[in-house]
Amino acid sequence: MSAIMIDGKAVAERIKAGLKVRVEKLQQSGKTPGLAVILVGSDPASRVYVNMKKKACAALGIYSEEYALAENTTETELLKLINDLNNNPNIHGILLQLPLPGHLDENKMLEAISPLKDVDGFHPVNVGKLMTGIPGFLPCTPAGVMDLIRESGISIAGKECVVVGRSNIVGKPQAILLLREHGTVTICHSRTPDLASVCRRADILVAAVGKAGLITAEMVKPGAVVIDVGVNRTPDGKLVGDVDFDQVYQVAGWITPVPGGVGPMTIAKLMENTVISAEN
Ligand code: GUN
Repeated sequence: MSAIMIDGKAVAERIKAGLKVRVEKLQQSGKTPGLAVILVGSDPASRVYVNMKKKACAALGIYSEEYALAENTTETELLKLINDLNNNPNIHGILLQLPLPGHLDENKMLEAISPLKDVDGFHPVNVGKLMTGIPGFLPCTPAGVMDLIRESGISIAGKECVVVGRSNIVGKPQAILLLREHGTVTICHSRTPDLASVCRRADILVAAVGKAGLITAEMVKPGAVVIDVGVNRTPDGKLVGDVDFDQVYQVAGWITPVPGGVGPMTIAKLMENTVISAEN
């Protein structure tokens, strides 16, 4: 038996089609949603992501501004830009592309973004709202993963959910979102002694580490929902996730491909947060 493919690209297109209508409605009332994207330095992967985000804005009629800052930008300079954008009425969302160069304090920079414009959901106020279940901006990748799990038709309540990876961007918020839907959630990471046996318990397995081939077929319970958040380049330049797709496809019940799974959802949810911010 082989798994059902969860088509993230198709789900993302459906979300964006709905957003286009909402953007047109906002425009009719004289308001164009605006997103500011800040990129510090020249990380090639970040450049690709920023370009994709700007392209998605253009396709939906969302105004976007890019601030490409030099690698040696100081905290004072970045804080000044963030403060200006916080006070700019044409900007409804501010995205600070991560990772930042090492001399910049990531938490301090993220905390400077107004929680009302924090469309990435990384500000401590929005993280706190996520924890307590108060409506706020949800981080885009984990929120997109929740949509993909819903797409499989599997209910989360009572299910064994295993999240591999504990980043602030994906692993931790993913675990909380699954918990909010009444999953029994385990977070695994690099110090987990027997990763395979924990993963094998999962009805819903989310891999978000950034290590090609980490999740093999032996680690997957037959019929499980497998969501691959990883984005890795093989030595020959191929884009792959954290899941050994060809093997796991034979065992899982549902699986997301890379590319075309979680990636497009991250962008769609960012657009959604920006539209919500403008509507607010
Ligand atoms: N770097 C990797 N993923 C993300 C994301 O979702 N948002 C931002 N701002 N930076 C990232």
